[in-house]
Amino acid sequence: MNAPHRLYIETVGCQMNMLDSEMVVASLRQRGYELTGSPAQADTILFNTCSVREQAENKTYSALGRLKQEKLLHPEKIVGVMGCMAQKDQRLIFQKAPFVDLVVGPGQLQQIPDLIEKARREGGQHTALSLGRRDGAVNDIKRSHETFDPLRDPTMRPTPFQAFLRIQIGCDKFCTYCIVPMTRGPEQGRPPSQVLDEARILAEQGCKEITLLGQTVNSYQFRDGEQTTRLADLLCQLDAISGIERIKFVTNYPKDMTYDLLSAVRDLPKVSPYLHVPLQSGSDDVLKRMKRGYTVSDYRDMMARINETLGAQAAVSSDFIVGFCGETEAEFQASVDMIKECRFKNSFIFKYSERPGTRASDHLPDDVPFEIKKRRNNELLAVQNQISEDDNQAFLGRNVDVLVEGPSKKADSDAQLTGAPVQLTGRTHCDRIVVFDGNQRLIGQTIPIGIYDVTAHTLMGTVVTHESSSEYISLA
Ligand code: SAH
Ligand code: SF4
Ligand code: F3S
Repeated sequence: MNAPHRLYIETVGCQMNMLDSEMVVASLRQRGYELTGSPAQADTILFNTCSVREQAENKTYSALGRLKQEKLLHPEKIVGVMGCMAQKDQRLIFQKAPFVDLVVGPGQLQQIPDLIEKARREGGQHTALSLGRRDGAVNDIKRSHETFDPLRDPTMRPTPFQAFLRIQIGCDKFCTYCIVPMTRGPEQGRPPSQVLDEARILAEQGCKEITLLGQTVNSYQFRDGEQTTRLADLLCQLDAISGIERIKFVTNYPKDMTYDLLSAVRDLPKVSPYLHVPLQSGSDDVLKRMKRGYTVSDYRDMMARINETLGAQAAVSSDFIVGFCGETEAEFQASVDMIKECRFKNSFIFKYSERPGTRASDHLPDDVPFEIKKRRNNELLAVQNQISEDDNQAFLGRNVDVLVEGPSKKADSDAQLTGAPVQLTGRTHCDRIVVFDGNQRLIGQTIPIGIYDVTAHTLMGTVVTHESSSEYISLA
């Protein structure tokens, strides 16, 4: 028998990309591939790429540059670029890195195993790309962006008891700064039957937590004749699957955070009261230039709906872009004010990065100097961090249920090998990170942790041993 092929894969970008990589690896494993951690040992090298900011693309092009020598020495190695940058830059990738063999868009991932074989057999450069947003009739464009969700290998997931589950691909919102609608194509909901089948299989494999993925996941809908399934319906059906303990969903679009959906989050015990709903800016004028489709007052109404339905247990997080085209100091201050008003659990803050092919790139000058973007980024982050730390104080002295994910980054690696207690990490139902010392056998269990200290991003605790339920007793 031939020696197995060896695959090296590097992934940047969002959770959708992490899931795509998992799927591609699973499909290659079925063909006998093994994973390796170094490009030097691999005969197949894949980059799963992101185009959301220029920095993410630069990172990939530098990594490709570093690979040039390796490929010159070993021309038989197959190098593939997949994901959003493949769809955006297409054959430009061959110009910038002429040794690349494959360019495969995120809507064509099912072709990867065959294309690798073809490149190995015949040589030459191969592309598999979806249609652009103006390259045909809507249905043809939709069909050309295929979701890729084959059966997966439980060993591929970050932890065996957690999984991403795609319910929607693409995006139709066309925010003026954003490349995603171009790289991922039109919004399409997956049929509920497929989602439920996949969730049942994951539960059988021992998966306890699923995170539903979509660019605007709460806009999810699937029409079948007269019947329309929305996210609230899907959550209700997923909640009934035994074995699944927690259900999360990201990322949400403010306008589609309806009472129906929030009531489902309140009433379904497995659904986490954690809502990632990016605001992007606290200024109506900026939101308009971004074409986000809502005002600050709409967002406030949504926050009121969340508070009314879920109360204090809800954890809301956001994304912000600073230094978007024409952003004045006063407009930036409006974002600071909204962070203070909404008191997000956390916010991801990004400096605006012009993306060729977007409406902002075509029509609005990227006129905020980099130094100002940087200063605004730091300022917004500092305000958010203070709020996160202050609000985490409320957890002091309380017990929280934590799904234990594994050793923390600080865990002693020698102790990990001997099985001795180490620093473990996990998350609460509302997505807060908790670290504590414990026996490694706790990994994969949901256990109560008593919180004795907090920072902006982490709760520190100890395993609660006096609970009546004996299965929670730890030998730590
Ligand atoms: N679909 C998700 C987010 C996708 S991109 C949503 O709509 O919420 C993740 C985040 O990257 C966005 O929320 C936005 O804050 C940021 N982002 C997108 N395009 C960007 C750009 N051109 N420059 C800087 N940040 C950007
Ligand atoms: Fe991009 Fe806007 Fe779609 Fe999110 S909703 S993926 S920010 S276009
Ligand atoms: Fe990046 Fe594509 Fe995700 S551009 S953020 S990998 S959808």
